[in-house]
Amino acid sequence: MEILIDSANIKEIIRLIDLYPIDGVTTNPTIIAKEKETFLPLVQEIKRHIGYEKTLHVQTLSTEANDIVNEALHLTDQLDGNVYVKIPVIPEGIKAMKTLHQDGVKLTATAVITPLQALMAAKAGADYVAPYVNRVSNLSVDGTKVVGEIVNLFNIYQISTKVLGASFKNVDQIKQVALNGSHAITASPDMIDAIQEHLLTEWSVNQFSSDWKKAFGEDAVPFFK
Ligand code: G3P
Repeated sequence: MEILIDSANIKEIIRLIDLYPIDGVTTNPTIIAKEKETFLPLVQEIKRHIGYEKTLHVQTLSTEANDIVNEALHLTDQLDGNVYVKIPVIPEGIKAMKTLHQDGVKLTATAVITPLQALMAAKAGADYVAPYVNRVSNLSVDGTKVVGEIVNLFNIYQISTKVLGASFKNVDQIKQVALNGSHAITASPDMIDAIQEHLLTEWSVNQFSSDWKKAFGEDAVPFFK
């Protein structure tokens, strides 16, 4: 499963890529706005820091197909490397995806709420579809189950588009989408940290160290001293 950082904060991106096997970064207009930086230089700086291979997903703002296409082409012209243009699955977004797919632009269909929206986006040429798990769950529909249904649909019709679970408010949601076969997830820095950090793990490590030092002395760590 691919793990991506859903943030435009350069410091957090650098920190998490240093710690974890991160596959890429996703952004959206809200995430960009939070940084209060000029858009294009910020995403170009993110791309520089993550390198050519890791994926960077950058979202368009327009709502008319022609404008979306123009935004997308401008983005791919200004950004080098493994860049995916994120386009919301509004009808005009699907129309834009059809054109951009034919132009060879890599696409992430975003703001996906239902499995059929994802299916339509995949047919239009999306390389990833991003269902918003927590936002769906806030509608009293299990967002993690929607991810499973999309994965199932793509298996039934042998669709190579990847499911990129997004919008998580707790680690259990991430676990459930992983169990449901999501090909990728994108999560905020604090959610990614929460995946790995556990008090009992920390307690166990401290216990190992304490027992070792009791037996071999306070300065017996690392063991090769
Ligand atoms: O990429 C979409 C994601 O950032 C939405 O997350 O937490 O605003 O629902 P959230």
